[in-house]
Amino acid sequence: MNPAQFIKDPDRNLALELVRVTESAAMAAARKMGRGDKNAADQAAVNAMRYMFNTVDMDGVVVIGEGEKDEAPMLYNGEVLGTGVPPKVDIAVDPIDGTRLTSLGLPGAVAVVALAEQGTMFNPGHIVYANKIAVGPRAKGTVDINAPVKDNLAKVAQALGKDVHDLTVVILDRDRHKDLIREVRRCGARVKLISDGDVAGALGTAIENSGEDILLGIGGSPEAVITAAALKCMGGDLQVQLWARDEKERLMAVDHGIDLNRVLGLNDLVGGENVFFAVTGITGGQLVDGVRYEGDRVYTSSIVMRSLTATVRRIESEHHLDRLNLLTQIYE
Ligand code: FBP
Repeated sequence: MNPAQFIKDPDRNLALELVRVTESAAMAAARKMGRGDKNAADQAAVNAMRYMFNTVDMDGVVVIGEGEKDEAPMLYNGEVLGTGVPPKVDIAVDPIDGTRLTSLGLPGAVAVVALAEQGTMFNPGHIVYANKIAVGPRAKGTVDINAPVKDNLAKVAQALGKDVHDLTVVILDRDRHKDLIREVRRCGARVKLISDGDVAGALGTAIENSGEDILLGIGGSPEAVITAAALKCMGGDLQVQLWARDEKERLMAVDHGIDLNRVLGLNDLVGGENVFFAVTGITGGQLVDGVRYEGDRVYTSSIVMRSLTATVRRIESEHHLDRLNLLTQIYE
């Protein structure tokens, strides 16, 4: 896109309001951290997210809700959020990306939200997984999801001015990735296995000096749309192919006219030009620090961004629990 077409006078940056939504979800989820109860953490984050969303002046519909895959409590697809006044927006939410990480007190769980103009977000429907390849701005335009791993790694290494041996490839630690991991190692690149949270994993590739260069492999398809929103703001790149888990799912895709061979790029996943994104850490990780509860104070760490201006802000907040508890019980 040519930003000059769209940028006029400075206007409202919804991401600055969205951060209250992700902070809220993260604070509520963090209360349930390490308690071994994924659903309780998810429910707390969902309640908090819904509560805060409804203070935002917007007329939004959830296109990417999270939870169908494991029947977790969810902000459901089609749910209307916001105060109902313009702008009309599509919403993608992941109240917790890393519910298991949260329940076990492990690093890397985040709360994320993305908005784009209404009708511009891709809906993956019942295909819950997608194959993904994500890179940061410096390697944008170099990767092809249908090309051999070796070629993609060579091109990314070249774009980053590195040797393939110095590349770090982020991959979800799953049995389905055994061959992929073997292939990446055979090419000489280093593998960083993550147990969950491929949104944060993909965003790491777009952050200078994060030590993460490329994300490969199959993860959630809702997470792919959310990742696309963020990488669109950060100038990174993402290619995705929906992935059927078995023959039944493949046939269902055919019945629904879904082409599993189609390569979806950033603009197919999030077509809007004015995309807003916010992420807050629940448990500390590479991307953002986790929530810290210290007596009456709660500390959160977030990143907010907007595609139109490409502004990326890091927001460190101090919350006063005694005041918040006068308004709501969601952080208790
Ligand atoms: P949830 O926390 O929403 O369950 O997602 C965690 C996650 O690791 C995602 O980051 C990833 O895209 C997906 O699950 C992978 O799915 P699976 O765990 O079924 O392989």
